[in-house]
Amino acid sequence: MITLNGSKKIGIAVFISGKGSNFKSLYKFSKKKNSKFKINLVLSNNINAGGLKFARKRKIKNEIINYKNINLAENKILYILKKNNIQLICLAGFMRILSKKFLKKFKGSVLNIHPSLLPRYKGLNTHIKVIQNRDKYSGCTVHYVNSKLDSGKIILQKKVRVYKRDNPKSLAKRVLSQEHILYPKALNKILINT
Ligand code: GAR
Repeated sequence: MITLNGSKKIGIAVFISGKGSNFKSLYKFSKKKNSKFKINLVLSNNINAGGLKFARKRKIKNEIINYKNINLAENKILYILKKNNIQLICLAGFMRILSKKFLKKFKGSVLNIHPSLLPRYKGLNTHIKVIQNRDKYSGCTVHYVNSKLDSGKIILQKKVRVYKRDNPKSLAKRVLSQEHILYPKALNKILINT
């Protein structure tokens, strides 16, 4: 739980690698009256990440990080986070693992959204595994990030029905639309006003 001072919103950074649709939905929510956060920064390891264009158009500060050397990359990220007064990181389709050292050094919280009902299906290809196992339900999870992959404390989850006609693509689409609702909700849940 993060406590806010008065009506001040918390400054967050969103880390993306791909389309960035979760980032876009977080941005839209941050503009609402009852939002307790504002996006100060978007960071990506991928120069072609879709969300970067969206960020530039809206004049949100954005940074591209070269990940050839993880140590250098993470030191640079820590510097940028400090400079931009970031208190919380939201991983949103960020396909890099933050090191134990990074998580220890960053003096804020780190959240992630994962497209399954954790602890089921950590890691990649979750929708393929759900279909292969003929699960009746899948879903999405927002959780704190710790040093073990997709294993931190769960904040919120949303179940999504899997239909017989589903394939990994159709399921991914339905889960993603729920992610867009769940992530802002989870953020507001952990941010309380004083
Ligand atoms: C989302 O489905 C997110 O849950 C997933 O990548 C997608 C990113 O979509 N993340 C992971 O699989 C992390 N393990 P987006 O770029 O459109 O937000």
